[in-house]
Amino acid sequence: MKLIEYAKQKVLELAARAFVLSIGLCYASIAIVNLIFKRLRYGKDFLVVKERSLPPLCLQDTAYGRHAFLRLKDLKIHYVENGDRSKPLMLFVHGFPEFWFSWRHQLKHFSSTHWVVAMDMRGYGDSEKPTSISEYKAEYLVKDVCELIKALGRNKCTLVAHDWGGVVAWSVAAHFPEMVEKLIILNSPHPIAFHKKIKSSITQFLKSWYVFMFQIPYVPEMLFHTEDLACFERMFGGADNKMNVTEEDLEGYKYTFSRKGAWSPPINYYRCVLSGKDVLAPVTLPTITVPTLMIWGENDVALDKELPELTREYVTNMEVKYIANGNHFVQQDKPDEVNQAIEDFIG
Ligand SMILES: *[C@@H]1O[C@H](CO)[C@@H](O)[C@H](O)[C@H]1NC(C)=O
Repeated sequence: MKLIEYAKQKVLELAARAFVLSIGLCYASIAIVNLIFKRLRYGKDFLVVKERSLPPLCLQDTAYGRHAFLRLKDLKIHYVENGDRSKPLMLFVHGFPEFWFSWRHQLKHFSSTHWVVAMDMRGYGDSEKPTSISEYKAEYLVKDVCELIKALGRNKCTLVAHDWGGVVAWSVAAHFPEMVEKLIILNSPHPIAFHKKIKSSITQFLKSWYVFMFQIPYVPEMLFHTEDLACFERMFGGADNKMNVTEEDLEGYKYTFSRKGAWSPPINYYRCVLSGKDVLAPVTLPTITVPTLMIWGENDVALDKELPELTREYVTNMEVKYIANGNHFVQQDKPDEVNQAIEDFIG
């Protein structure tokens, strides 16, 4: 009997994996056609990213903070800190494909009231980059955040997170509520709400096309490299094609993501979450009880606008602040409104 159960489980897992990969292959073949067109249009150097030997000045701007490293149990984490270390800790966790710099406006703004720390997650920026896909499991990402809080000498913080950082922060707040004084999440649905939505909504399923494409090796990495990392202009412009990012800020992203091996670790987050058993595993998380603010840029092209409402079921104490015309990268798209919303919430 046990054997039959086991075999059934294995068959289901294989079928789920095959399903994910076949959708991934469909999207990848469209991507490959796109790559072929780019090859024809731009010549054989179409994947060559301009060499950037020095970081642009914005990455060294002391108005944003000071660079620092801490060694955790498994790896070294880079972060930028600002404000007085005696003040309450506010920790910022970025999304894909970003790094500490996504929080530059918040680092500046909240340094008068907090000790602000924006980390590079494992695999990103100047933090260490484990090579295997399995090293990007959610439990490790959660552990990194908890260990960093401890390594900074604190037991708790105000945790501010966006996109993938949000996925991790929901988990930190659910499992270790004593470490999170207040939770602020930007454009990142509760994982269970997202899981339900993508299974029941064709529009969310279509909006998540890239998650499937990322399951295929090499192709996503190649796509991001084309036209000297023009992906950043495309992403930050959002649906209305208006990006609130200076040329130098863009160079900050491009410098960081032009470095060797910069893309695979971030993409591996997606590969890990959909690999093996995790495909079927229904997400379970204890209810979130810490006071929570969800900030939602309404023009997110990747996430359905209904997701904040669906998240309420899993959070006992949550406010939602919608930012009109804000895109997915809302903390840099509408920094003044985001900072105001955070300030109103933390009081
Ligand atoms: C764009 O960002 C700047 C900060 O660089 C901010 O002061 C400004 O308000 C933002 N623009 C909009 C429309 O939010």
